[in-house]
Amino acid sequence: MGTENKRLLRALGGEAVWPPPVWLMRQAGRYLPEYRKVRAQAGDFVALCTNPALATEVTLQPIRRYGFDAAILFSDILMLPWALGHGLEFKEGEGPVLPQLRDAAAVAALDPGRLPAAIEPILDTVRGIRAGLKAEGFGDRTLIGFAGSPFTVACYMIEGGGSREFAATRGMAYSQPELLDSLISVLTDATVTYLAAQIEAGAEAVMLFDSWAGVLSPSLFRDLVIAPTAAIVAALRGRYPTVPVIGFPRLAGVMIGSYASETGVQGVAMDTAADPALAASLVPQGVAIQGNLDPLAVVAGGEVMASEARGILEAMRGRPFIFNLGHGIVPPTPPEHVAALMEIVRAA
Ligand code: CP3
Repeated sequence: MGTENKRLLRALGGEAVWPPPVWLMRQAGRYLPEYRKVRAQAGDFVALCTNPALATEVTLQPIRRYGFDAAILFSDILMLPWALGHGLEFKEGEGPVLPQLRDAAAVAALDPGRLPAAIEPILDTVRGIRAGLKAEGFGDRTLIGFAGSPFTVACYMIEGGGSREFAATRGMAYSQPELLDSLISVLTDATVTYLAAQIEAGAEAVMLFDSWAGVLSPSLFRDLVIAPTAAIVAALRGRYPTVPVIGFPRLAGVMIGSYASETGVQGVAMDTAADPALAASLVPQGVAIQGNLDPLAVVAGGEVMASEARGILEAMRGRPFIFNLGHGIVPPTPPEHVAALMEIVRAA
């Protein structure tokens, strides 16, 4: 099937496809028993991300179960710093742990020369997913590649892991702006290389996850979120004018409008806190909106989930829209609630 017929790509092309295409952030993951089985087999999380056969398998699992309109490459935003030679470990129950980047020597130690070889297993996964989708009768689904946005990846590198406030990163933005800019610049170039390679391997759309965009002041948001995102979008669109980019400036509030109009993205993802009607008024009509059901509503299921989902669908009817969650699906989610959600969206 030609890409022009794929529902998700049509929405990203500015068409109000209805019922809307649907996929869920973190749709491959611990809420699925079949994922937990493969995860146990793989050993640690980085081993799973660099095992093309197993990463392909877990990417396809939620497509088989629910028939989502898109598959998203199974990997992690922190595989980019890993590929640049920065350490990365996922500790059980603790999340990612990285060395804390605090000086120019640590930025200079990042090695873009390592990138091509390091990402090869991930590109193999991309090729495996495209082949698997076709072989299993899902050739009309879209494969989304992704990366973290430079700012959010920098947050994890500077803090050495997750954080509530990302105070060291924001502090660096004010007290050592050249240091942070040099890191953002290395990550921006590496992200273009990484996403271009995913596209060459078969990704048909790409998404930039900026999970911590919302911790910044408006002026820093422009410098550290909008500017690098615009640079990445321009570089990719220059080379691949038909491959759409979805941006996710999480917790950006009203800045979602500037983000959508100034970065050049074809789609913008709303987080759980975004008001769909307000977002629709701020985002240019030609830019698709994606989102934003609360993942906790899917844990609850039943009538509360249904009414929250219908509220979003009603606000988005008539504009290019992709149904999704406002953040990743969480491990306690009963898989049958996702099936019920799919029925609601398909009946819109
Ligand atoms: O969406 C998908 O199904 C594709 C795969 C994907 C993962 N992480 C797999 C993953 C994607 C797109 C991501 C993005 C990601 N990773 C983000 C941006 C989106 C967001 O959630 O805000 C961020 C901030 C990360 C960093 C990260 N990875 C954290 C903080 C954690 C630990 C928290 C947790 O849920 O355990 C991870 C681990 C991770 N990435 C898991 C999965 C399935 C769980 C690890 C496991 O299975 O043991």
